[in-house]
Amino acid sequence: SRTYVVTGSASGVGACVAGLLRERGDRVVGVDLRDAEVQADLSTDEGRERAVEEVLAATDGTVDAVVACAGISAPVPTTVAVNFFGVTRFLTGLLPALERSQAPRVAVVSSMATLQPVSEAIVDACLADDEDEALRVAGTLAEQGPQVGYLAYPSSKRALSRWVRRECVTAAWAGRGIPLNAVAPGTVLTPMTTQLLSTPESVAMVDAAVPMPLNGHQSPESVASLLLWLTDAANTHVTGQTIYDDGGADAVLRGDDV
Ligand code: NAI
Repeated sequence: SRTYVVTGSASGVGACVAGLLRERGDRVVGVDLRDAEVQADLSTDEGRERAVEEVLAATDGTVDAVVACAGISAPVPTTVAVNFFGVTRFLTGLLPALERSQAPRVAVVSSMATLQPVSEAIVDACLADDEDEALRVAGTLAEQGPQVGYLAYPSSKRALSRWVRRECVTAAWAGRGIPLNAVAPGTVLTPMTTQLLSTPESVAMVDAAVPMPLNGHQSPESVASLLLWLTDAANTHVTGQTIYDDGGADAVLRGDDV
């Protein structure tokens, strides 16, 4: 049995991942704002550091895998704090614990929103590990209303997918034998999308932006099963990938981009 850290374990995809792992007998340390083994706010450095400390205490310092699901999609700067820095800084803090595992693996949840328009200034600030600047830019966008403020979400996810690609080959990750990947879902039926999918008009808007010709809106299980494979010992060579697990949204939107 392996020890997994799952962020966002209280709801949606994270709850599904944690449930599947527990069912098959793996040990899960959930991290979330509430209803979790480790209750911490991943939107602040203080919360991230406390989360790392409490995970280390709960696991005796060895972590076999991390599945980072915690995320928000609100048109506010905190979205960048949770979705990017709440993943990258938390994972970096857990590297020593992952290094003690026989088969360390990490997977994060990105989004097909990586393909949507972004704020390059936010993406650049994220990749420069400059949280103050990323939040400052996201704040100026949020002041222009929710439609512009929403750029925080695709920007945080594109930066996350790019971070995965850059980091995976470095001494910190490949050097420690840790595959690092992202899964990019389409529209998943979780509390995050309940409101968004509450009227025929809003469903039509979502479906126009996120075309899913294969099987339509997806279950959290459809995302969780891929996250489990990527973080299984069986995955020895898949790394740096953002795998679009999205009913064909990426194939529709990007076409021949291979
Ligand atoms: P959800 O809202 O059901 O679950 C997200 C969890 O993250 C919640 O339990 C929440 O408390 C936790 N969380 C939020 N802020 C936090 C913070 N500051 N510190 C610690 N935990 C925090 O959402 P869902 O749908 O399960 O989303 C999971 C991931 O999938 C997110 O990263 C989201 O961006 C991504 N995603 C979701 C899609 C969807 O259609 N639902 C589509 C593509 C990506």
